[in-house]
Amino acid sequence: MKADVLVVGSGIAGCAAALAAAREGADVLVVTKATEPEDAASDWAQGGIAVTQSAPEEFAADIRRASDDTADPEAVETLVSESRAVVEDVLLDTLEVEFDAVGGGADGTDSTDAADFDLAREAGHSSRRILHVDASTGAHVLRPFLQHLSARDGVRIVDDATALDLLTEEGTVRGATILADGEVEPVFAGATVLATGGIGDCYARSTNPAGATGDGVAMAALAGATVSDMQYVQFHPTAYDPRTDPQADDDAQPFLVSEAVRGEGAALRDADGRRFMPDVHEDAELAPRDVVARAVSRARDRTGRVVLDVSDLDFREEFPDLAALCDDRGVDLDAGIPVAPSEHFLCGGVAVDDRGRTSLSRLFAAGECARTGVHGANRLASTSLLEGLVWGVRAGETAADRGRGDAEAVEYAPPRDSDPALPDAFADTKFDRLGRTMDEFVGIERTPDGLGTARARLRRLKGEVDAYARTRVSQSIYELRNACVSSLLVARAAADAPSAGCHSLVDPDGSEESDDAGRGVTPRADD
Ligand code: SIN
Repeated sequence: MKADVLVVGSGIAGCAAALAAAREGADVLVVTKATEPEDAASDWAQGGIAVTQSAPEEFAADIRRASDDTADPEAVETLVSESRAVVEDVLLDTLEVEFDAVGGGADGTDSTDAADFDLAREAGHSSRRILHVDASTGAHVLRPFLQHLSARDGVRIVDDATALDLLTEEGTVRGATILADGEVEPVFAGATVLATGGIGDCYARSTNPAGATGDGVAMAALAGATVSDMQYVQFHPTAYDPRTDPQADDDAQPFLVSEAVRGEGAALRDADGRRFMPDVHEDAELAPRDVVARAVSRARDRTGRVVLDVSDLDFREEFPDLAALCDDRGVDLDAGIPVAPSEHFLCGGVAVDDRGRTSLSRLFAAGECARTGVHGANRLASTSLLEGLVWGVRAGETAADRGRGDAEAVEYAPPRDSDPALPDAFADTKFDRLGRTMDEFVGIERTPDGLGTARARLRRLKGEVDAYARTRVSQSIYELRNACVSSLLVARAAADAPSAGCHSLVDPDGSEESDDAGRGVTPRADD
């Protein structure tokens, strides 16, 4: 197969890149592992999409503050200054997404004026600026996006297909090999955009859908692209925690309880019923996400359980989708929703510039697999769909410009598939080992010794997986390889970097290595 622009992944960033490239007249091929929209993390996004209102500087300041002042100011400026135009163009004009409105005022509008919309607030935001559809915004954006692209001339979508490796020629990326219908084949492309999402499968507990195996990060790293800020793995403070829910079935799974719930007044309480966040940070439950996640983790360790108390809001009325999920799991809302932090978002990734260009010629990246600099060490809530949209459009336009009419077949060595397939349990067992290692040693708080142990275990695991991958081609073995590579990159980066934002190094005795006082975090030793 050939295409001007190959897009790998079909979340919001991949869709935005495909749309933008097609608008520029490129012939676009989207290759995605997904078979359903809900296979992409974008579809699972609850909170919404933050959009600049009257004070862009205030929005930028919130992003920088949430990032522990490590975000790249120019990248933040790009995100903030383009937010309205891109949301109005793509989401309102093109896809006609019906965000929750006040008094029915937003019907048919093509502007994001605050007066029209029921804007939400989440942790770290100093004002209401989040467009949403109930607490299931992602599905209301991604599904029409996929439908639009499926019907659009110039865009082909191949689903249930796994990108295996990038095709390179003297440092230039010329497409990728893919596995589709059991066959490996090359896709030659003038430009390739990686939009493969995050690394949730590297951890035992994540808010991501299955299949978030760091594919883009690993493929880019293996091809020699620069990858950075991998130590910044964000943990969401409030994922439903079946382990501390007496009502939960044995096989109950965690699910995200949106920050919007805290934005509307829900409180975090420990097992003694104490509301602990006011003692930790002046913004209490609305402190930056990394601060809340660490505090929840410590309160849970100290007292055994943390619940999100929703008694001060009309939870069923304001969050009907979440209330239905809780009912489905048998959560007793009067007792509060049991919560624990869970892996949520990779702030680092394949290093890109303001047009999504990576360090390799003709290779672009957008969305969670890319490191744009917007998030620095910790991402502000409801900026991920926005970043995927802004950088997806920019990467798609630039990739079209670079790749139009330029797909070139190059020599490549197909991977060997000579040995018998491995049983499904093989990948499950290895993923289990990987997840336990990452949770124990590369989680919400890390120690130098723990990171050393993790690196040794991950190297061993990767060695085993590589040995099998040399003679077998399957989606699960490549996902495992990619997850091992991504995990090693996280552990390595974490071992070499001081604490900042969601990367928190603690001494083995439990005291914090870095001075976190500026973020209002109570030192662990005082707990
Ligand atoms: C949430 O709804 O809490 C998640 C939003 C986000 O990760 O930006």
